[in-house]
Amino acid sequence: MTSKAFTSVTMVTCLTYLLCTSIVDAGDSSSLDTEDPCSLYGTGIYSHPLECQLFYNCSKNDLFEGHWKHLDECKYPDLFSLVTNKCERYHEVDCDGREEFVDACDYKQNQCLGPHCRPCGTRWPKCEVENGRTHYQYMIGSPYYGVCQDWRVVERKQCEIGRFNIVTKSCTIQSSANSV
Ligand SMILES: *[C@@H]1O[C@H](CO)[C@@H](O)[C@H](O)[C@H]1NC(C)=O
Repeated sequence: MTSKAFTSVTMVTCLTYLLCTSIVDAGDSSSLDTEDPCSLYGTGIYSHPLECQLFYNCSKNDLFEGHWKHLDECKYPDLFSLVTNKCERYHEVDCDGREEFVDACDYKQNQCLGPHCRPCGTRWPKCEVENGRTHYQYMIGSPYYGVCQDWRVVERKQCEIGRFNIVTKSCTIQSSANSV
């Protein structure tokens, strides 16, 4: 399937794994399939070269969102720190060239794989303000809204009474929110 350039070191490492071939071919070919550091080093935790919220956990043995089995992702909105070598609060992490996502729907954990999944945009709002309340783009006129901090959704809330008005950014009983 995927034709990666494997060094002889990789081949030797692979021989120690009975399921080497299935490890290598576990995921579809995509931009995320950079060379898995676990196939070179066997153990450990490694950052992902392209995306700041992703990392490799060589001890992990399940398939992650259809991708390579060692690939894992920090829980939104956390990011993987090169300093502590684990997931940390986003404001403590310097992505150092790796892409840094603020939108919850850019995290793989929130994206849909199968047909029985409610689209991410109905589960997570996208921040239209850096700090403060924001509405769900796909649920205008609903009681649901999010609270943003640094363009990230830090809380998902529901009006106790009424609906979330996208103009006043507050819960109102007489909603004019349907007239976008
Ligand atoms: C790596 O995976 C192992 C096995 O699933 C787990 O126990 C460990 O907590 C994981 N480490 C991180 C940093 O996610």
